[in-house]
Amino acid sequence: MARISYDDQTAAAFKAVREVPRDGLGHWRDAVSRHLSPSPGMAVADIGAGTGAYAAAFTDWFDVDILAVEPSAAMRARIPRRPGIRVLEGDATALPLPDGSADGAWLSLVIHHVPDLAAAAREIRRVLRPGAPVLLRQGFPGRVDTTRTFPWEFFPEIAQRVTDTYPSVEHVCQAFATAGLRRDALEPVPETLTNLADFLAQLDTFRRADTNMRGLTEEEFLRGKEKLRLAVRDGDDTPRTNWLDLLVLR
Ligand SMILES: C[S@@+](CC[C@H](N)C(=O)[O-])C[C@H]1O[C@@H](n2cnc3c(N)ncnc32)[C@H](O)[C@@H]1O
Repeated sequence: MARISYDDQTAAAFKAVREVPRDGLGHWRDAVSRHLSPSPGMAVADIGAGTGAYAAAFTDWFDVDILAVEPSAAMRARIPRRPGIRVLEGDATALPLPDGSADGAWLSLVIHHVPDLAAAAREIRRVLRPGAPVLLRQGFPGRVDTTRTFPWEFFPEIAQRVTDTYPSVEHVCQAFATAGLRRDALEPVPETLTNLADFLAQLDTFRRADTNMRGLTEEEFLRGKEKLRLAVRDGDDTPRTNWLDLLVLR
């Protein structure tokens, strides 16, 4: 069971406001390229592919073939259908892929939804060719600086209330170690998001589609929204940057 239900309403909200704008993802493009060494035609499993933002980005950036595995029908329905992307029903512990068929695995903001990480690690290892990397884009407990993580500056409770309950780097590494995959790299990667006025306009929709924001109480949410409203009123229009980790195992 995922932490939230990715039903039709959540999927529509996710598609509308949770996909990071492509021009804010330049550092991710560089980081993935360094660790995946992509070449045209390479098969990459995008596990928990969501609405397909990274499936589309990876095919555009690297000309790889994406196997987009996603358990939620509503999220899956929103993955772009186009050459280079195969959309498949499945989850991290039951991948509809043959042994040794993928040259890499990408899991963006997925592992906190996976109840049995060791089982997922074994299944991911099964579908990878030997030496192929697993790349996780993730916020880990204790590794997020709230002052430079958006929108936590407005909703600081997210750190204690939600992200601290996610699997730690050590927990994830232990689970993957049982499947014979070891930590290869861990690096924070920035991404550039929207400006504050646009974010305020999208906030209620964003909340519907975000596990972190859904973990806030109504009072915490309204307090943060008011801080945000005042910042917009005072003319703060600096684009915000978010930092997440890239954890690579192989
Ligand atoms: C926060 S969304 C991220 C979507 C996409 N990876 C992205 O970054 O845009 C989490 C996704 O993980 C999927 N998910 C939940 N449980 C899963 C599981 N056990 N295995 C694979 N995916 C899962 C959800 O259905 C949802 O689409």
